[in-house]
Amino acid sequence: MSDRTDEMNNDSDHEHFREVLERSLDNPMNRRNVIRGGVGLAALGSLPMMGVAQADDGGDRPRGSRLGFEAVDKSLTDEVLLPEGYSFTVLHATGDRLTPAIPEYSNTGAETDDWSQRVGDHHDGMDIFYINRFGRFTDHETDQAVLVVNHESSADAHFFHPNGQTSNGVSGKKFTQFGDWDLGTRPEMEALKEINHHGVSIVELARVRNGKDDAHERDERRSFLLGKRRAPAGWAYKINSVYNRRVTGQSLMRIGGPAKHLADIRQFMVTQFDPTGATSRGTLNNCGHGKTPWGTYLACEENWAFYFNMPAGSKPVDAKTVASRARYGVARAPLSATATAGISQGWHTVTAADPADQSRFDRWNIAATGATAADDYRNEPNTFGYVVEIDPLRNTTPVKRVALGRFAHEAAVFGIPKPGRPLAVYMGCDSRNEYIYKFVSQARWNPADEGRGIAVGDKYLNEGALYVAKFNDDGTGQWIELTIENPLIAGYATYAFANQADVLVNARHAATAVGATRMDRPEWGAVNPRNGEVYFTLTNNSSALRNVDTADGANPRAYRDADGRGGSGNPNGHIIRFREEGRDDARATSFQWDVFLFGSEADAALNINLSGLTDQNDFSSPDGLWFSKTTGICWIQTDDGAYTDVSNCMLLAAIPGRVGDGQEITVSNSLNGVIGTQTTFIGAALGEARLRRFLVAPKGSEVTGLTESADGKALFVNIQHPGENTPALGRGTGFSFESEWPGNAGYGVVGRPRSATIVITRDDGGVIGL
Ligand code: FEO
Ligand code: CA
Ligand code: CA
Repeated sequence: MSDRTDEMNNDSDHEHFREVLERSLDNPMNRRNVIRGGVGLAALGSLPMMGVAQADDGGDRPRGSRLGFEAVDKSLTDEVLLPEGYSFTVLHATGDRLTPAIPEYSNTGAETDDWSQRVGDHHDGMDIFYINRFGRFTDHETDQAVLVVNHESSADAHFFHPNGQTSNGVSGKKFTQFGDWDLGTRPEMEALKEINHHGVSIVELARVRNGKDDAHERDERRSFLLGKRRAPAGWAYKINSVYNRRVTGQSLMRIGGPAKHLADIRQFMVTQFDPTGATSRGTLNNCGHGKTPWGTYLACEENWAFYFNMPAGSKPVDAKTVASRARYGVARAPLSATATAGISQGWHTVTAADPADQSRFDRWNIAATGATAADDYRNEPNTFGYVVEIDPLRNTTPVKRVALGRFAHEAAVFGIPKPGRPLAVYMGCDSRNEYIYKFVSQARWNPADEGRGIAVGDKYLNEGALYVAKFNDDGTGQWIELTIENPLIAGYATYAFANQADVLVNARHAATAVGATRMDRPEWGAVNPRNGEVYFTLTNNSSALRNVDTADGANPRAYRDADGRGGSGNPNGHIIRFREEGRDDARATSFQWDVFLFGSEADAALNINLSGLTDQNDFSSPDGLWFSKTTGICWIQTDDGAYTDVSNCMLLAAIPGRVGDGQEITVSNSLNGVIGTQTTFIGAALGEARLRRFLVAPKGSEVTGLTESADGKALFVNIQHPGENTPALGRGTGFSFESEWPGNAGYGVVGRPRSATIVITRDDGGVIGL
């Protein structure tokens, strides 16, 4: 998702780094006199800025000590570039049908169906779910599987209508979520398509081996005949599978949460649609994902705040609701009780042809139009911002897991499950200066729960504790529980919490109340399957929020890009990682951290290019992050706007060491005429042998979402929003596309760009990356 979605709504005035540093240096117990790697503090002044320590990997590195492919060069071309010896096929793209009952996708905006049986847009997080002979989930490879894909956003919805989006009867616009259009009236079918291309798609995979199909030969041949296209070698999806289905912005959802607080939680969800607050409609902006140990899918709701509108002159909502909305960016411009002019896609302006359908559109108007919350949709924003659990193999109602907190959820990744121990779920809130969270289940993991579906989710994801992370400058960190029992939360002046349900629904406020560390936009998390260490991408930050004075140990750089795009703050981002303390990892309340990698342009100064990146592996704005259980490779995907004068977004492979394998360093910061230093901890340099660029994506796209077949021989990667920068239409003048991928790569009708899932294989059939 583009940078504009990360506007910060966290104006808390936490202590700045300097105060922390001064306090910590005052305390001799906090002085780190001996630095990991054996270099004394006194020697720091003479250390080179780049980490040079050799990895002490403790035996948890992948089975290869170096990557087995030649790095791909940076590129600005409109294609997917891979190392020699690798190739890809497109599995599915925006608009592909999930049933033979509707026409193939035209790629001209001509569809007359409501998109609820087509692959959604903006492919993002995804995962594979294998099916055993009893029709249940298994983590082991079988000959039957489904692929679940998140569809993040509607920023390119103008491609789905013949001449762009229409307002007040005039087409040819590109409406953003951020309000560059008049709030006229929208046509019903356009709004339906836009609502329905959000959500999640589930398709059954089909394998085609060497021209000879596997057990699904007949189905598959029929599918492709119906689709009037040839089955590619490798992987495809079945068009007529009973597993194919969509979860959309209109699907029925159940509200789940801790039993003790569920009645209170439901009070926040009361709408005209369900005055009991037990259910809600739809999931939006599903960004990163999670896969539970029992075999369900977690779709995380990220930029859900931008779809609502309060028409000017609306009856005001109460002050507390305004304070809640302000913290989440709902009703952001202006921050008032009465108007949110300029935000949303205008779905609330639709007049439905059938009055029975009117509430589908009314629900985006969040004014207090009725006598009580049960008479309108003032609470509709409270029904979004969650981790949504979906069973890919059963058509059960998805559940919003309120216990995991409400924020701009990027992804939800499990620590290594251990029988008889609680489970930990790590989550980032993707906005500038937001936080990293952890949920710890009350129930202890029982491997017999594998394959038992969403009922098991009720066991592990309703009862538990929610924590937020505080990163100390001495390389340690704490998890602080978000509970109404905490006086900092109970007595928080900015927002008066009513109860624990309020703490969960307004988790961002609670996290600020306890003094969590403001991070440089947490995106995906990932857990190293070899040692349980947790990695988070921190994609970037702007100089308004990250500068010499606000730098801290975990977000240590403040600088200006010297050429090209010229961003400032932390324009290239970094990847932090931490190791939980103690034996009972999930419930640990402290951890040790270091910075795995700093994004940078290869030719940047040494105080910026701290990880010693070269032309083979330099990158900017890390976003997607995923570990292969088979190879142990850490895959890094970028969603960048800072280095895109030199290269389109990319995918890199890394062979990581472990937390503490590097050293403490002092970073020299210089920005806007202010200079200063900041200590931090950096992992051992990887070098070109252990960090290489594997893929460069088409123009205007980001690379996001990644998974792998169980044998490590097929890598599934999502290419999101190619051609994102295609300008708004001149009215009636047609499009001039920034990208024509994947049509220009031989997939579907050439013309408008489409998000897609690609499957990468090695020409010699080997595992990917090593
Ligand atoms: Fe959806 Fe944070 O990228
Ligand atoms: Ca530059
Ligand atoms: Ca992302």
